[in-house]
Order: sequence, then structure tokens, then C-alpha cells
Amino acid sequence: MIPPMPEHPALLPPDVRLAVLGDPIAHSLSPVLQNAGLAARGFPFRYGRLQVAEAEVGQVFQQLRRTCLGWNVTLPLKRAALNLVDEADHEARRLGAVNTVAVRDGGLIGTNTDGRGLHLALDEAFGAGWERKRILILGAGGGAGSAAARYLAAIGVPCLLLANRTPKKLLGLEADLARHTHVETYGWQHLETAFAGAELIVNATSVGLNGAPLDWDSGWLRPDHTLFDLVYRAEPTPVVAWARARGIPAHDGLAMLFHQGVRAFSWWFGDPLPAVAMRRALYAAAGRGQ
Ligand code: ATR
Repeated sequence: MIPPMPEHPALLPPDVRLAVLGDPIAHSLSPVLQNAGLAARGFPFRYGRLQVAEAEVGQVFQQLRRTCLGWNVTLPLKRAALNLVDEADHEARRLGAVNTVAVRDGGLIGTNTDGRGLHLALDEAFGAGWERKRILILGAGGGAGSAAARYLAAIGVPCLLLANRTPKKLLGLEADLARHTHVETYGWQHLETAFAGAELIVNATSVGLNGAPLDWDSGWLRPDHTLFDLVYRAEPTPVVAWARARGIPAHDGLAMLFHQGVRAFSWWFGDPLPAVAMRRALYAAAGRGQ
């Protein structure tokens, strides 16, 4: 006799008690990072990855809360996750997005470690003082870009230049941030002006990742510019390669992934944080020294 189908087939193997959810997700290095932490602490479970489309995310949260200790949420689910947790902390609410969920006493408690991860990665890349620069965020209308802009405004950077291919996506963000800092917005046809007014450039677009050539004019770059790319998939990313070709100090998002991941681990398990083991595993998997 054929056994009846379970009401909800298990989404993850029984020893996988944490995961990263997103779409696409196959490229994610979060399992490498988090599994190194779990192994270092001697936990008998693993961290997996789960492909989840935006339309399914509510149902998936309900299923995972029965078996998981927590999870990370990545593109394109972070904004939706804010409305799906039972409680979101101050950081998640101020960024308008959740990237880390813990299951505590059956409730889903969300936070967002991306802002702090970005901050520490920028410290590492450029040293103290970057936060006093005029910062241009390319793709500020997207999920990652708007969270970065909200974080930077909240920590008091004096001037944010927001650029997006579709400028109308900046309207709400501009109004919110103008209460905290000086904000300028630019459409894609005015990128040259935006670059001219900026000192630190943060790329939050997926430009060039689909193999299409980057059509930005390298004449927009000045020797005093610095550039940070939130993307970490390929090394160098198209935008990092573009900047480095002009001698501009440019870093990709691997260090941000590391720092946000260590803070996510802390949200689930607290101290001691196995940061050294996590970093070593991540950088080895990415094919880089530290
Ligand atoms: P994420 O959550 O990663 O930010 P997203 O919300 O889809 O993902 O946003 C992607 C960002 O990259 C957006 O700012 C998008 O611009 P639009 O808002 O106009 O769509 C930007 N983007 C993607 N491809 C781009 C391209 N070829 N040129 C310019 N911007 C691009």
C-alpha cells in the first residue's frame, strides 16, 4: 500500500535546523560560513539553503517554525519577511527589512544584521572616516540599496546621494531619509553628476552580473573616489573590476557577508562567537586569502 503524503512534505533534512532562504539561492556562501560556526561550537545540526519564491515565503515560514531554530532571508524576501515575523527588533524596523529570524518559544523574532555588516566591512575596507564622506548609493531603490541607505542615514552620515534606474522608486525613501540627513536623488541618465558629487560609491545594483557589459563611463571616476560593491558572487565583480582598472580602491561584499553572518549567528546562539573559523571557511570557499 502507498503511504499517504504528509500534509507538508519536509522542506529540509532532519539534521538541518537553520537555512538561508532566497531566490536564486544556489550561489549563496552562507551555508559555508554558518556551518563552520556550528562545527566550531560542536552543535549536532547543520545549516542548509532553500529556494523560496516570494509568493511562497509566508507558507514556508509557517513550516520552518516547527522544525528550525532560525534562518536567514536574502533576496528578494527581506522586505516581505518584516511582515511575517511575530516581532521585529528596532534594527529591522528602521531598515524596513529582516535578514535573520530566530524561533524563540515558538515565536519568530526578526532582526537585520546587514547594516552593521556593511558598517564593519566599510571600516575594514577604508578605515575610519568613510562615514563623513558624501556617499552615493547606486540602486538605492532596490531592497539592498534602500536598506543600506536607511542604515547610513540612521548612523548620521551627512550626505546621501541616491541613484536608481527607475527614479520613482526613490520617492518614499527620499522623504523618509530627508528627516535625518541631506539627500539628493538622481535618475540613471544623471549618473555622471551623481559621481561628480560623491566621494564613496556603494553599488547595490546587479549591473553586469548577467554577463552584459558594464556601460558606465570610467571618466566619471576620480582618483579620490572609493568604491564598495555589495555583490560578492564573482571576484572581481564587474563593478569592482571597472573601478580598479582606473586605480580606484574598490572592494566587494564578501566582508559584509562575513560580518552580517557572524551577527546572525550571535542572534541565534550568543557568545562565544566562532568568528575566526567562520571567516577562514568563507574566504577559502571564495578562493581568497584573508
Ligand atoms: P536587491 O534586493 O538585490 O536590491 P532588487 O530589489 O531587484 O534587488 O533591486 C535591484 C537593483 O538593481 C534595483 O535598484 C534595480 O534598478 P530598478 O529599480 O530600476 O529595477 C537595479 N538594477 C538591476 N539591473 C540594472 C541595470 N541593468 N541597470 C541599472 N540598474 C539595475
